[in-house]
Amino acid sequence: MNIGRLITFEGGEGAGKSTQARLLADALEPHTGEVVRTREPGGTHSAEAVRRLLVEGDTGRWQPVTEVLLHYAARSEHVHDLIRPALSRGAWIVCDRFADSTLAYQGYGLGVDHQLIAEIDRLVLQGLCPDLTFVLDLPAELGLARATRRAGGEERYESMPLGLHQRLRNGFLEIAAAHPDRCVVIDATADPESVHREIWDATAKRFGLPV
Ligand code: TMP
Repeated sequence: MNIGRLITFEGGEGAGKSTQARLLADALEPHTGEVVRTREPGGTHSAEAVRRLLVEGDTGRWQPVTEVLLHYAARSEHVHDLIRPALSRGAWIVCDRFADSTLAYQGYGLGVDHQLIAEIDRLVLQGLCPDLTFVLDLPAELGLARATRRAGGEERYESMPLGLHQRLRNGFLEIAAAHPDRCVVIDATADPESVHREIWDATAKRFGLPV
């Protein structure tokens, strides 16, 4: 039985997810006890090895469906080795990207059949689903301009065409609209401190923590 909580951050490139995940994890700790901050693709030794196959190299190095399988291979390791054990001991997990990224990037962005992704998700995750998901939303052009400034050898997705980034932004918004109980869309164009306040307010409200 899961007694911890899984909170995920989603969004396109340059939305500030890593900064917000760190700020939320720091804010949670005094109220919740153990907080584990992690990311996808990656989060464990084996999943980080798969990450390198995905974020480095030529944009066209994989068939889109192969990319789905690689992301779920990394996720399978991450869930088995880190997420499920942490949830079982009551930790709160703050994860920078999770399964919604596969539907947005490989589904909406690269055109992989959504039903196929849903089937793979069911087989690998066996119903595991975040308790709360923040979708950090901003125009694709702005996010890419921000991301390019900090890129360092992991630019494979950032190098993909603007149209793909616009489609996946729309994908994240559709996913959020389809799961209103789980997802909160946040305007990521605001300054990081205001974005954090909005995220903290929504988290506190959802889990009955002091605002
Ligand atoms: P990051 O830049 O947030 O660390 O994520 C690495 C890249 O991986 C990012 O460009 C989005 C991409 N990605 C997918 O395409 N599908 C996925 O399922 C995940 C988790 C990430």
